[in-house]
Amino acid sequence: MKTKITRKEIPFDMLRVRPHHLWNSQWLLLTVGDFKARKFNAMTVGWGSLGTMWGRPFAQTVVRPTRYTYQFLKQCNTFTLCAFPSEYRQALQLLGTRSGRDGDKIAQAGLTPIASTQVAAPGFAEADLIIECRQLYWDDLEPSHFLDSTINRNYPQQDYHRVFFGEILAIWGTDTYRADS
Ligand SMILES: Cc1cc2nc3c(=O)[nH]c(=O)nc-3n(C[C@H](O)[C@H](O)[C@H](O)COP(=O)(O)O)c2cc1C
Repeated sequence: MKTKITRKEIPFDMLRVRPHHLWNSQWLLLTVGDFKARKFNAMTVGWGSLGTMWGRPFAQTVVRPTRYTYQFLKQCNTFTLCAFPSEYRQALQLLGTRSGRDGDKIAQAGLTPIASTQVAAPGFAEADLIIECRQLYWDDLEPSHFLDSTINRNYPQQDYHRVFFGEILAIWGTDTYRADS
């Protein structure tokens, strides 16, 4: 039996996360595409950030050009970032090791896409945090700008990430993500 998740809207100023832990250890699911058109894809992401840019709340995610999701990011201007309770660790592992090119990995992972409130990209019924974003900017990492040569170890195939900035339009989460709870 899946635990029923109750999410409420959280103003960005009230969001409480441990950013490095959230990205690096808990992981997030990046979902891009159009829920209504049933054309979307999702992949696990472990690198990125949450913060402020141009006076707006923003999320930044980095995606290698080899990912199927990258094609969706080039065509669709919204995305969501979702966090899940620990029981979905295996689902995130699966979504981070299989490609949507090879079948319906979202169904295989046992996740249920749901409509977002502000963006075309879906969230998930099982998520305890859903961050809805609209793309604002992208850029490709430039290896000649790496100031620590050990960063190159992440790129044996020279498949440098593209950075996507999203303006956060809405956040839905359980009370644990609210600073005043
Ligand atoms: C824990 C974890 C974190 C990951 N973080 C990233 C990331 O930040 N950027 C990226 O491009 N790939 C990342 N990946 C790899 C993609 O999730 C993986 O290649 C996925 O299968 C791509 O799916 P797609 O081809 O359907 O887009 C990560 C994988 C795992 C397991």
